[in-house]
Amino acid sequence: MKEYTIQSTVCVYGWDELGEEDRTLIEAAKEATKGSYAPYSGFCVGAAVRLGNGTVVIGSNQENVAFPSGLCAERTALFAANAKYPDQPVIALAIAARNGDSFLTQPIPPCGACRQVISGVEQRYGHSIRILLYGTTGTHVVDNIDALLPLQFSDSYLNH
Ligand code: THU
Repeated sequence: MKEYTIQSTVCVYGWDELGEEDRTLIEAAKEATKGSYAPYSGFCVGAAVRLGNGTVVIGSNQENVAFPSGLCAERTALFAANAKYPDQPVIALAIAARNGDSFLTQPIPPCGACRQVISGVEQRYGHSIRILLYGTTGTHVVDNIDALLPLQFSDSYLNH
């Protein structure tokens, strides 16, 4: 038997330690929670992506009475950005969530399906996506999806 270890580095920043661009994107994600439609879970998630040309596109979770038909905030934002600006790489993604009026102290990490889509968008544009997971006690930051989705599937396997 052989084994190998996969490690991820996550940096946790206090609000004052974040740069202006990161803070602006997080504020956009927080604001985006106002567009959440979450009558079933009561869990409001906002996402904001920054594109290569500086444009910020937002998304929020949109639920449906047939539960699996709803969509997470991250994919709503990414697909909207790709649909409207297909030639622009996504360079950063911020996520914020609240239960009722209060933002969560600990950030939420994106679900597995959203991680796969983030991976696909990185591959599509050949550009890493800086991911900012906002919590009131700190923002967790990774440089790209590798930290959240090790051993990810990519189109390079299709050509094997
Ligand atoms: N949700 C997101 O929008 N993003 C995540 O990363 C996790 C979960 C949404 C889906 C659903 O509307 C609600 O949060 C509860 O799962």
